[in-house]
Amino acid sequence: MNHPAIRKDAVAVITGAGVGIGFAIAHRAANEGMQVVLFDRDEGALNTASKTLLNEFPGLKLLAIKGDVTSEADLHSLYERSCELGEVSLLVNNAAVIQGAGPWDGLSKWRKLMDINFWSVLTLQSMFVETMFSQSGAAAVVNLGSKEGITTRPGNAAYSVSKAAIKVLTEQLAHELREKVGDRISAHLLIPGYTFTPMNFPGMTGSTEKPASPWTADQVADRMVEGMSAGDFYIFCEDNESTWELDQRRMQWAVDDMIQNRPALSRWHKDFSDKFAAHVADVTK
Ligand SMILES: NC(=O)c1ccc[n+]([C@@H]2O[C@H](COP(=O)([O-])OP(=O)(O)OC[C@H]3O[C@@H](n4cnc5c(N)ncnc54)[C@H](O)[C@@H]3O)[C@@H](O)[C@H]2O)c1
Repeated sequence: MNHPAIRKDAVAVITGAGVGIGFAIAHRAANEGMQVVLFDRDEGALNTASKTLLNEFPGLKLLAIKGDVTSEADLHSLYERSCELGEVSLLVNNAAVIQGAGPWDGLSKWRKLMDINFWSVLTLQSMFVETMFSQSGAAAVVNLGSKEGITTRPGNAAYSVSKAAIKVLTEQLAHELREKVGDRISAHLLIPGYTFTPMNFPGMTGSTEKPASPWTADQVADRMVEGMSAGDFYIFCEDNESTWELDQRRMQWAVDDMIQNRPALSRWHKDFSDKFAAHVADVTK
């Protein structure tokens, strides 16, 4: 049985829903008979997404809103217009960017990225969670995390920091919701692996061939529903290269950096490369 927040006629709100994982989640929600609200800053993508969904689901109640998650006015409009449709039972904070910025440079890039990847999530959470309290039905918030926010590979500091922040924010949200309303409103951290989307394949079109390693965005959306329905908070996606067993070993290594007082990010430290290789040897054969 599906998570009770995924139910016919209730409203699903998805940011960054024009393409990629956001669109796949909107597609899955439409397939479940939900009303869908697509929010994206890319008007062209939004139009294509709307047409595709309405074509496949002729009776679908769909609202497409062009807006930027860094604009509080746009987020407020998203909130108001979504609530007018009916009970919002699912909020998916999916929009994000992966612009590189290092640990001591690119401050303006950091601010922009944190605005999109972190502050917008907190802002929408603060609007919708209050409303979910006042509704009577089950509801859920799904925030998009990343393995880069857990094992925090070097080279993309701003993105990793934003996704680590989302992990902690969502854990705190899950706890507070559990304390306040039990399991009526749940929070989930969806953690995609390497996925075939424009984020990784800029300029991709319907005819771009998917390489072997990534999962499709639909696989991620299906895993989201499966994980929510099983009551999982951490909803991990493997991909066709990294198995769940390998992810587990990588996370264990990251936590052991602290427990064993190793250097930061020792997985990428030359003195530890052999030890790390041995640590994952039996799951990478
Ligand atoms: N693709 C992956 O391999 C992968 C892996 C781990 C996590 N994720 C996470 O999954 C989520 C979706 O990723 P994706 O690969 O589908 O991304 P994508 O770049 O393919 O699509 C993102 C969508 O968000 C929209 N968007 C970006 N900034 C926006 C803004 N300021 N306001 C409104 N809309 C905005 C874009 O227009 C686009 O339609 C992100 O949170 C990403 O960090 C992706």
